[in-house]
Amino acid sequence: MGKKKKQKSTERHAYGITVLKSADARVRKLKSQYEPNIHGNKVWNSSWCIMDFIQQQGLPKGTRVLEAGCGWGPTGIFCAKNYGAKVLGLDADPAVFPYLDLHAKINGVKIKTREATFEQLKKKDLKETQLLLGADICFWDEMVDPIYKLVKKSISAGVQQVVIADPGRPPFHEMADKVIDKVGGEVKEWSVSEEVKASAYLLVVGSLL
Ligand SMILES: C[S@@+](CC[C@H](N)C(=O)[O-])C[C@H]1O[C@@H](n2cnc3c(N)ncnc32)[C@H](O)[C@@H]1O
Repeated sequence: MGKKKKQKSTERHAYGITVLKSADARVRKLKSQYEPNIHGNKVWNSSWCIMDFIQQQGLPKGTRVLEAGCGWGPTGIFCAKNYGAKVLGLDADPAVFPYLDLHAKINGVKIKTREATFEQLKKKDLKETQLLLGADICFWDEMVDPIYKLVKKSISAGVQQVVIADPGRPPFHEMADKVIDKVGGEVKEWSVSEEVKASAYLLVVGSLL
């Protein structure tokens, strides 16, 4: 009798959450119905660095988090699951929300969602937010200004901390330089290599604790 081939897992478990790979049957089913078209088609790696940063820093229970350009919602789900955060996932592309809902369900958390662009978020929409997160959201030149303005608006609305992660694309650095110059903050190099391997630059503005 031949050896049974070991099935490769289609789930990834790290930082207390489960994320699904593209090969997972539940993801494949959604892919036949919903097609994200601004790169919200997987969990992007720099989100692991945000999780690691938050794990090191700590997060008060029940913190109100806005995940901008949430895609499948990895960092928001991490905050909700591990710290009881109240999370709103915002994305311009409604096709990402069924993937976010699936991930919220398999992780046993509830995440609110809103379809809107970074530009559409007004200062009054940010008043309730304490922590604004964004992983891999500044990848085109035309994103520099809207994200710079979003960070500026957030801090002036009273958001305590903003963390934006990126593997290091030029638009991210341009945006980060502008933010640091006008609002403050710093860029930290971050890498993780235990449960998952990832590295990113983190723009951190303000402080939560
Ligand atoms: C590269 S994906 C990153 C998704 C998620 N943050 C992650 O790390 O897995 C970028 C996300 O930003 C969203 N996005 C792109 N431009 C946007 C805009 N102007 N306003 C809001 N969301 C936007 C896309 O739809 C997509 O879900």
